[in-house]
Amino acid sequence: MGISTRLTGAFGLEHPILSAPMAVAAGGWLAAAVSSAGGLGLVGGAYVDRDWIAAELDEAGDTPVGCGFITWALERSPDVLDLVLERRPRAVMLSFGDPRPLGARVRDAGVPLICQVNSRPDALLALEAGADVVVAQGAEAGGHGAHHRSTLTLVPELADLLADRSPDTLLCAAGGIADGRGLAAALMLGADGVLIGSRLWATTEAKVPTGLHDAALAADGDATTLSRALDIARGLPWPDRFSCRVLRNRFSETWDGREAELRDAGHTVGEDWKRAFVAGDPDASNTIVGEAVGLIHGVQPAADVIERIVAEATTLLGAHGTAASALRETDRGVDG
Ligand SMILES: Cc1cc2nc3c(=O)[nH]c(=O)nc-3n(C[C@H](O)[C@H](O)[C@H](O)COP(=O)(O)O)c2cc1C
Repeated sequence: MGISTRLTGAFGLEHPILSAPMAVAAGGWLAAAVSSAGGLGLVGGAYVDRDWIAAELDEAGDTPVGCGFITWALERSPDVLDLVLERRPRAVMLSFGDPRPLGARVRDAGVPLICQVNSRPDALLALEAGADVVVAQGAEAGGHGAHHRSTLTLVPELADLLADRSPDTLLCAAGGIADGRGLAAALMLGADGVLIGSRLWATTEAKVPTGLHDAALAADGDATTLSRALDIARGLPWPDRFSCRVLRNRFSETWDGREAELRDAGHTVGEDWKRAFVAGDPDASNTIVGEAVGLIHGVQPAADVIERIVAEATTLLGAHGTAASALRETDRGVDG
């Protein structure tokens, strides 16, 4: 059983599924589990902790995995990219920032470049960077994003853009995909595959404390909010256009809207937040998940999650008489 798309062909995958390079949660164990299950796992290079990244790539062992970075953070420690490129990752993903300068180094090393984007202008920058894969992240997504475009419109718009400007560039959908319905829908929207965060965060291989998993399992899709408080408290200089989708909780209700005050109190609050996050305290830190949390009802091994998503999508695509991922503007011949 499998769903073949241009993405599976290009990367030699069984399933058109990438796992998100989630800060802290996506270590080598999760990335390797996803790759072993037929997708492509990405280690979360996030804020560029050199030792952590090296240890997690070691943990993945011989299983081919990629590594994803937060672009603005990697710009501050660009030498870490060399460390990763030397290990011949299956791909490097850049999110949240101009991918052109660092993307050139990835491409020069002969490593496939994945760029996560939030808008049409971002997608054009990704094409200039020479992205092999563009990931269209919609506002439903867990974690950071620009959160102003929904997956449902961003994906087909960028599918048309790529078909017009750069037909060989692959497209993945991200944001709100947690079951076979989401995968099938993404392919129908013109994506070649999906990048999944929240649903794979809720797996046994993810580095997530039990208290945060439990909070997510008890939540529904109405329970998330967009917050900047955790970044201000931790002193992370996120550009203004990005916020973080988290479960609404005591921390967000205490600090959202009081950002100036938090900047003054930041250090102490940030240290408390970090301790609570490591301990899995869902009230005093944050549970970082997307709207898809309402579709997550258990913590299972990543292979089981992927197998189920693919089985559901296969049934749905079969039932609708097509597995086509390429109904593009040019094919339709009308503007709709
Ligand atoms: C816990 C968590 C941490 C994340 N950390 C990162 C990150 O460090 N870098 C990144 O590019 N994206 C990160 N993301 C966003 C994902 O790349 C992806 O866009 C998102 O998870 C897709 O939406 P979904 O959560 O609905 O699947 C994170 C997402 C989650 C849930």
